[in-house]
Amino acid sequence: MNFNRNDKCWCGSGVKYKKCHLEFDEKLMELEAKGYIIPSRDIIKNQEQIEGIKKSSAINNGALDVVERSIKEGMSTEEVNKIVHEYTVAQGGIPAPLNYEGFPKSVCTSINDEVCHGIPSEDIILKSGDIINVDVSTICNGYYSDASRMFMIGDVSEEAKKLVEVTKECLYKGIEAAKPWGFLGDIGAVIQEHAEKHGYSVVRDFGGHGVGVEFHEDPFVYHYGKKGEGMVLVPGMIFTIEPMINQGGYGLFIDADNDWTAVTEDCSLSAQWEHTVLITEDGVEILAK
Ligand code: MF3
Ligand code: CO
Repeated sequence: MNFNRNDKCWCGSGVKYKKCHLEFDEKLMELEAKGYIIPSRDIIKNQEQIEGIKKSSAINNGALDVVERSIKEGMSTEEVNKIVHEYTVAQGGIPAPLNYEGFPKSVCTSINDEVCHGIPSEDIILKSGDIINVDVSTICNGYYSDASRMFMIGDVSEEAKKLVEVTKECLYKGIEAAKPWGFLGDIGAVIQEHAEKHGYSVVRDFGGHGVGVEFHEDPFVYHYGKKGEGMVLVPGMIFTIEPMINQGGYGLFIDADNDWTAVTEDCSLSAQWEHTVLITEDGVEILAK
């Protein structure tokens, strides 16, 4: 699509195209001609969308903060679900997981060898030594945000602590590697390097994703790969980085009882941390954490 230089820019800024995204489009077209994968215009957020996603993220962060303050031994994962649901609704948001492709609850709670998509239940009681991922996603005025944190319940083994710690480091190394005019592969490469250095493996079957106007948008964010490969990153892209790191192999299976929960094939522990990030003109901004 070509725009007249004096027309208003496609991004909705109200500014003339020549003074807004013209140079940006030319740079992308050049990269595309050289064979690079470039993002389509519909995944580049404008100011209004960014503001909306930030508001959604603020609710999402608040929900995780409440969980962080209250989660403890003896609590059921259904109670965690209730905390997230009630807080989100009270703040004017909608829990994005609820009824998403049939998901029955408002949050994912994944314990020990569960990789992701654990379903809260009154029958699942947190016990000392458990590590749990609480994955919260929020819709506010139609805008989506997504983040997850790990929590350690009571006395946790040194090896479990180490896994949780290294997985968080993987996330932050991935965020540091995310730069405008860099590549998606830069993120996956550093995550994979750090995880494997510790003898862990990176889950292949799930990845991060574009987020904001929908729950899951392009691109698929690999947590493994090679520097300089994959989609070019540009200002205005918003996506999650959410490495799932296993103590053993990366193989997993989906629990046949609920068709949702991913569990490690070798019963080894799995951890995950997730943030929603925005690529800016000069770096990266964390929105949901
Ligand atoms: N928060 C998860 C993600 O990172 C989404 C899980 S979909 C659900 O993509 F339905 F299980 F919630
Ligand atoms: Co996500």
